[in-house]
Amino acid sequence: MNKFYNNKQNLLCNILDKAENTHNLNKNEIVELLNSDGNLLYKSADKVRKKYKGDFVHLRGLIEFSNICRCNCYYCGLRSENQKLDRYRLTENEILECVNFAVNSGYKTVVLQSGEDMYWTCERLCSLIKKIKEHDIAITLSIGERSFDEYKKLKEAGSDRFLLRIETTDKNLYKQLHPNMSFENRVQCLKNLKKLGYETGTGCLVGLPNQTIKSLADDILFFKELDADMVGIGPLIPHPETPLANANKDNLDMALKVMAIVRLLMPDINIPATTAMESIRENGRIIALNSGANVVMPNITKGEYRKKYEIYPNKICINDSPEKCINCIKSKIESIGRKISTTKGYRKDAL
Ligand code: 5AD
Ligand code: SF4
Ligand code: FES
Repeated sequence: MNKFYNNKQNLLCNILDKAENTHNLNKNEIVELLNSDGNLLYKSADKVRKKYKGDFVHLRGLIEFSNICRCNCYYCGLRSENQKLDRYRLTENEILECVNFAVNSGYKTVVLQSGEDMYWTCERLCSLIKKIKEHDIAITLSIGERSFDEYKKLKEAGSDRFLLRIETTDKNLYKQLHPNMSFENRVQCLKNLKKLGYETGTGCLVGLPNQTIKSLADDILFFKELDADMVGIGPLIPHPETPLANANKDNLDMALKVMAIVRLLMPDINIPATTAMESIRENGRIIALNSGANVVMPNITKGEYRKKYEIYPNKICINDSPEKCINCIKSKIESIGRKISTTKGYRKDAL
């Protein structure tokens, strides 16, 4: 081993020791970790996950209830300008059927996810939420940007959590990729959600064109500053019907490194092993669960609609049933010695 290698390894070990003990790193230290090969980082994140979250994995049943979206994000297959996508919207009854399946299968959370579909007014959503809340189940909303007042009503109707990724904290990049949207408003939405008492989830995409390592470090520091309760990291998967069709595809390792650093700096939060991770590498979710993640969000949308929720290509499970997915993921989780949680899995729950 040469001296340079030794010095590099020592530096990495020192940073990881500091992270494990203090859960604080500066931007330069985060950049060092992002530039490393990741192997020591993943081990360290796994250790912190075990200490703070134990071996339980929380399952959140994902219902993709509308692929209609008013936004035109440059990376996403649901963008309003993609005319090749067959659009759908589940009825309230169809959504409630999915919820019944979730309850009967032992899920303790359903995630209602859609594009920014304004058919689903605050009133319609509140009425749906109240019906779902007749069951003992937590509700996570992932429906995009709304006003403070609407977020407030949705919370009062019974929703518990909200997912809204910042996508990138690089303002210029954000502007380029999100026509007619405002970075400042997105940050304000996240602050509003926190203020209203939602368990608030955010996250970013990794692999956007012109995204730098430093900007990923800023993303991580932003999550900590916001005190996010959940952070989901997605590797960008270029979609052929979007302006980013030719973007870099090889984003999994960097996404895993970002995720692992988030675990080191925010030891008690919930971190999903994202579907996108498995869509680009076999067992990507299991790799993520061994590198800091403690949540999985199996798809419980009914068959004919899954294919149409094509945020990115080659999404896993598009031909599988909700029953198949739950059995599949349970056996994968158990195969690595982890256990399926039977609680709602709030951030602050005791171990
Ligand atoms: N690749 C990976 N993730 C994507 N998302 C949107 N488009 C893509 C893509 N091409 C993610 C965004 C959004 C979430 C619902 O899906 O981060 O917040
Ligand atoms: Fe719409 Fe979300 Fe896709 Fe943007 S990322 S186009 S807001 S579904
Ligand atoms: Fe859907 Fe494995 S989780 S088939």
